[in-house]
Amino acid sequence: MSKLLEGKVAVVTGSGRGIGEAIVRTLAEYGAKVVVTDIVEETCRKVAEDLNSKGFEAKSYILNVADFENAKKNVAAIKELFGRIDIWVNNAGITAVAPVEEITIEHWDKCQNIDLKSVFFMTQAVFGIMKEQKYGKLVHISSMAGERAGRSSSAAYSSAKAGVINLGKAFALAGGKYNITSNTVCPGRTVTEMAKGLSWLTDPKDAPEKTIPLCRFGTPQDIANAVLFLASDLSSYVTGDTLEVNGGLYMAR
Ligand SMILES: NC(=O)c1ccc[n+]([C@@H]2O[C@H](COP(=O)([O-])OP(=O)(O)OC[C@H]3O[C@@H](n4cnc5c(N)ncnc54)[C@H](O)[C@@H]3O)[C@@H](O)[C@H]2O)c1
Repeated sequence: MSKLLEGKVAVVTGSGRGIGEAIVRTLAEYGAKVVVTDIVEETCRKVAEDLNSKGFEAKSYILNVADFENAKKNVAAIKELFGRIDIWVNNAGITAVAPVEEITIEHWDKCQNIDLKSVFFMTQAVFGIMKEQKYGKLVHISSMAGERAGRSSSAAYSSAKAGVINLGKAFALAGGKYNITSNTVCPGRTVTEMAKGLSWLTDPKDAPEKTIPLCRFGTPQDIANAVLFLASDLSSYVTGDTLEVNGGLYMAR
């Protein structure tokens, strides 16, 4: 395996399972020291232990990305684990399904807090560290729903994910002069635990061979491969970008 990320320290939020787990494993395989973080202690600890057993350098840290009061304190503690933070991936998120007429204030706030406000306050906390280092790679996981509105998710989710695309650009503008890049990945229909609650996974009219140009659903590894590019110096002249990883579904809808 190439040592593309040798000497780099990477942190991935929500990496105890799903897309985040694939991202953190991929960054470790390409040479980064990684911090596996999640709100669920057991899953992030297990992923880190498994990586260590395979000879990679990994630590775990319990992190609720919506704990805004402690964002700076948590990010400072995470930095102490390996002494720096070169790569930060905002992946943690929840989805929700509800027709527009049924979205409650509680539902709205939950999506905005976990899917959008967390991205701002986590990134703000790590931005100062990257600024001092004069190096940083920020990658944010939005969604195709954030660009085109969600057909199978709620407007609270899709509008939060639209905000993530905008924040990705805001940090790109602020970070350029400090050698910090900030880019966003928009996954399409990717098979994970989250997807199990969504209609497209089982509805025959959404069968991938009928709806997706590449004729299959995405895998967490498809998303991790795109993040690897944006987290590495292969993308050193790419910032403020939004990368579509949806098998061409973006064109087909
Ligand atoms: N699966 C898809 O089809 C799809 C499509 C587009 C975008 N996405 C986005 O990709 C990201 C990962 O999704 P996934 O499919 O792997 O979901 P998942 O539910 O399988 O995994 C999400 C992870 O985030 C963690 N998490 C949830 N709330 C958290 C919090 N407050 N603090 C820290 N961690 C928290 C969960 O414990 C879990 O480990 C999300 O941002 C999601 O919106 C997924």
